[in-house]
Amino acid sequence: MTVVRVKDRDGAERDVEAMNGAPLMETLRDAGFGIDGTCGGAMSCGTCHVYIDAAWAPRLPARSADEAAMLEALADFVELRPSSRLSCQIPVDDTLDGLTVEVAPQV
Ligand code: FES
Repeated sequence: MTVVRVKDRDGAERDVEAMNGAPLMETLRDAGFGIDGTCGGAMSCGTCHVYIDAAWAPRLPARSADEAAMLEALADFVELRPSSRLSCQIPVDDTLDGLTVEVAPQV
């Protein structure tokens, strides 16, 4: 079981059980955190933007060039941080148990 701690846009935190084998975006979307995931993980909508806890960020797979480009496109609308990620590009498995993320502002 993989449990992720999520800080929502109002600053409230709660733990959710994440779906192993699926992108983190799907867990956040289905758990009602206001993540739309409009493009279904094609890196073209930016609605799945999250801030990864600084301690966890280096443990995740590196951003692809396409993910980095989508994040840069968001910079005119929301704060980008070094730990900004598209949650659709984070595959969940047991190694992410305890991961802490913050849902970024809506675009
Ligand atoms: S779901 Fe669209 S960019 Fe992640």
